[in-house]
Amino acid sequence: MRITIVGTGYVGLVTGACLAELGHQVTCVDLIKERVEQINRGEAPFYEPELPRLLNTVTRQGTLQASTSLPEAMRECELSMITVGTPANADGIDLTAVADAAGQIGTWLHLAAPYHVVTVKSTVTPGTTATLVRSRVEAASRQSLGKFGLCMNPEFLREGAAVTDFRNPDRIVIGQSDQRAGNLAAEMYRGFTCPVIMTTLENAEMIKYTSNTLLATLISFSNEIASLCEAIPGCDVDAVMDAIHLDKRLSPIVNGERIKPDILSYLRTSSGYGGSCLPKDVLALRMFAKHISVSTPLLDAVTEVNTNRPRVVVERIIRTLGSLRNRKIAMLGLAFKPGTDDLRFSPAIEIINHLRQHGAIIHAYDPVALPAAAGIQNEQVILSDSPESAVTDADAAVIGTAWPEFAELDWHTFSNLMKTPYLFDARNAFRDKNWPASLRYIPIGVCIEE
Ligand code: UGA
Repeated sequence: MRITIVGTGYVGLVTGACLAELGHQVTCVDLIKERVEQINRGEAPFYEPELPRLLNTVTRQGTLQASTSLPEAMRECELSMITVGTPANADGIDLTAVADAAGQIGTWLHLAAPYHVVTVKSTVTPGTTATLVRSRVEAASRQSLGKFGLCMNPEFLREGAAVTDFRNPDRIVIGQSDQRAGNLAAEMYRGFTCPVIMTTLENAEMIKYTSNTLLATLISFSNEIASLCEAIPGCDVDAVMDAIHLDKRLSPIVNGERIKPDILSYLRTSSGYGGSCLPKDVLALRMFAKHISVSTPLLDAVTEVNTNRPRVVVERIIRTLGSLRNRKIAMLGLAFKPGTDDLRFSPAIEIINHLRQHGAIIHAYDPVALPAAAGIQNEQVILSDSPESAVTDADAAVIGTAWPEFAELDWHTFSNLMKTPYLFDARNAFRDKNWPASLRYIPIGVCIEE
């Protein structure tokens, strides 16, 4: 199938590369010339494991190409896919780029195959595809829906595991304006064995929001329980959650063996959720609900708990260290989670902001995100090129991102390099490790004994 992808962010490019791997003829369109050239050289313009190798393969075999020319890409094309950004704004979500992409596709629709389906993959609030996208395509093409088809096909790709997620989907959701449109979109995924859900455009849009807001809700629920445990001597949120996870409704026993679904990891405490999706999607759904006069007290609280979490972590540091004025704190990890260099809404950055407000001097290190972090530097935030230099003479170190390599550092030597050997684990990631006696490891979700 000839497919045009509009927008080469991580969703667009990963989707394009994976569809090209399946044998489709894919053209990824972007306005940025340098980005297009980079993709055509088989190079990934951002950090995403597995993508460089895949891009190299599909560009060399010629099933994927990038272009700045939408008309060229649209020639004989059967399906176009909108994968542009939908950033947060005061209204909840900024749909300008989606509307523009729909208009441009409409402009060149006459060049496409006799029957063409416009598919939205960007995360958009319910109703957007059937109203905004439809009207923009119709106005620009002077054709009515039916002459072309509309689909909404949400993505469920985690940053850092996007290629694997594409290749092993839990389900494929296709919202369709009519059966003909849906059938053509489903052709893209021929050969996948997972359930394919054919549904309305609005359900597809809502499924995406429900998926991400559920994850955010589980994290905030766990963090609210953690805050309680932190205030109760004798309580430890991990012990509490370990017991909760054993409920057979959460981890069923199949053929005598307990299955521990991945979802359980969202029922653990942390410094909160971040990234380009969960914070934005919770906010967008809340604002959308407000527009249609539906209250969302649960989702409002999910955001509130998450916003407070980095502050709670810093208050724990202050309870142990006292005043932070001019104290050196080593921040290990900046990305919103391991496996990515993405700093958007990263709880680690929020922790740094709170530490700064208390007068601390932060020396930050991340194994992947240092180039992306250049902009956070100032007189109180210094980027360190190694964990050693970050912890040397520090009053404490904080694990801001659960990079597994942080557990493997030589903490015995590090504790001697530090002024006071405190290690705060803001992700609660390394509780099972045997820490050297010279180091005081302080998890979250546990009452700090005075
Ligand atoms: C999320 C969803 O997981 C994807 O299904 C979805 O497609 C994607 O958003 C999207 O909308 O594009 P992503 O933002 O990459 O993917 O991140 P997750 O791995 O789900 O992590 C989100 C947040 O939850 C992070 O802050 C992470 O640290 C936290 N998290 C993640 C946990 O607290 N525990 C976990 O086990 C996993």
